Amino acid sequence: MNDGEFFALNNRCPHRGGGLSEGRQTGLVESDGPGNYCYSRPGEIIRCPWHGWEFDIRTGQSWCDPNSTRARAFKVSVEPGATLVKGPYVAETFAVSVEEDYLVIELAG
Ligand code: FES
Repeated sequence: MNDGEFFALNNRCPHRGGGLSEGRQTGLVESDGPGNYCYSRPGEIIRCPWHGWEFDIRTGQSWCDPNSTRARAFKVSVEPGATLVKGPYVAETFAVSVEEDYLVIELAG
């Protein structure tokens, strides 16, 4: 998760299989020359803990080899649980009332 957005990458680095979930999340550093740099997209780059290859958490694109290497990215959406699972089971309900110090449950039949 990054700033309220969710992303999912395969937890296997395409280089040698390092666990990306154990990598450090960082941002994008770009430079147009020595001594000049720009830091952007904080938290959107994941660095593999094994050899340091970096991947865009939005797309899985590698920053070491962007044309042919990428971590597998999965589509993510956030939905209320009730819209995902509507089971065949319905909870049985009973009429309940309180009479003085007693809780009264009315069972059918
Ligand atoms: S295994 Fe990830 S950079 Fe080598």
